[in-house]
Amino acid sequence: MDVIRGADQMHAAAAQARNSGKRIGLVPTMGALHEGHLSLVRMARAQTHWSTVSIFVNPLQFGPNEDLARYPRPFERDRQLLEAEGVDVLFAPSVEDMYPPGAKTVVEVQEMSGRLCGASRPGHFRGVTTVVAKLFNIVQPNVAFFGQKDAAQAAIIRGMVRDLNFDVQVVVGPVIREADGLAMSSRNQYLNPEQRLAATVLYRALMRVQQMADRGERSSSALLQAARGVMAEEALARLDYVEAVNPETLEPVADIGHGALIAIAAFVGSTRLIDNILLIAPMRASGPH
Ligand code: PAJ
Repeated sequence: MDVIRGADQMHAAAAQARNSGKRIGLVPTMGALHEGHLSLVRMARAQTHWSTVSIFVNPLQFGPNEDLARYPRPFERDRQLLEAEGVDVLFAPSVEDMYPPGAKTVVEVQEMSGRLCGASRPGHFRGVTTVVAKLFNIVQPNVAFFGQKDAAQAAIIRGMVRDLNFDVQVVVGPVIREADGLAMSSRNQYLNPEQRLAATVLYRALMRVQQMADRGERSSSALLQAARGVMAEEALARLDYVEAVNPETLEPVADIGHGALIAIAAFVGSTRLIDNILLIAPMRASGPH
């Protein structure tokens, strides 16, 4: 596996692979890799001929009081994990490489960028779409892989690809969880043992919603109220939001009749965690009545 630092070098290596007829896969990450990331790497390996994983802790998507400085950066461990997966190139640019002095252009998917995490983290999704647009231009992948763990991010990137005519297929992989349901996240390592136990409350709240939906409850307000109830019972967790939205537009839905994304964010201590489930519209009864 080659480790490439410079954007120009990355562009040239990908161009060479493309010119030899290879289908190129890209998995953008911020490193501190776990099975969630690796599931996407395996999809990229299976669906493309030449895979690049980027590791870049993108300052543009962190707010002023967020965890940019302390975000984990176990580079050597990440490198070994990717090497073992058979990745072709690890692209690990510096901040100066991605944002040279004088860089002024941003990419924003308007309206969508203010929804869900975008409401409590102003500028976050603009930072994400800006860096992903740059990565798409540098690598020019045929396919890019994202996780459903960040459902709003995936929907917004799809919006960007559509609106700006990026010639990239976006593939979204399922949420990978710990055995007790906690969605894997690089931020889980901030949690102390007590907080780690409490952190399953997001999944428990979502499972309560799933259960009610399975029993026929269609009203978003009833479902969200139940989720808030589960969250309120966990003293170590502070709810940021829980919402029922259209999975493509991220607009709130009053009932889940046509399917909905239930997205939740909460602080456990100072660690902000997110999770979500997709409620699928019930299949129409078929066959004889
Ligand atoms: P990061 O949080 O490192 O995640 C990289 C990719 O892994 C994202 O597409 C994310 O949705 C996916 N992922 C993370 N945890 C997952 C899990 N438990 N199951 C499945 N997929 C999971 O998301 C980012 O980085 C950044 O915003 C980035 C897109 C790289 C832009 O900077």
